[in-house]
Amino acid sequence: MRLEHIGIAVADAQKAQNLFDRLLGKPVYQEETVDTEKVTTYFYDAGTAKLELLTASEEASVINKFIEKRGEGVHHLAFEVDNINEEIERLKGEGFVFINEKPKPGADNKIVCFLHPKSTNGVLVELCQSVSTS
Ligand code: CO
Repeated sequence: MRLEHIGIAVADAQKAQNLFDRLLGKPVYQEETVDTEKVTTYFYDAGTAKLELLTASEEASVINKFIEKRGEGVHHLAFEVDNINEEIERLKGEGFVFINEKPKPGADNKIVCFLHPKSTNGVLVELCQSVSTS
């Protein structure tokens, strides 16, 4: 398991990009809307891991709900694994609770699932596995 990216909920994508462009000294390398999640994602290469800015692409987005409740800021940690289904079974065996146990398509050519923050010390955790595009 390795830290793949840190997800950050932002209200204004333009403003946030301006800030992170200046902070990291480089621009976003990929922008992608995940319709099923109603989010638009902006990826930065931040060295050992990526940063994923998340904004609502529609009013009824989980990102809007998150920002209403907790404000902008760190939204989730994402760990990449080689075999997501094996890892789900392992973590279930360790007593972790999942929001979705069945991996679904995410941004950046990944399949993803989320652990419930109530079982991970209040931090939303994403598991992701790269899927080949060939
Ligand atoms: Co993510």
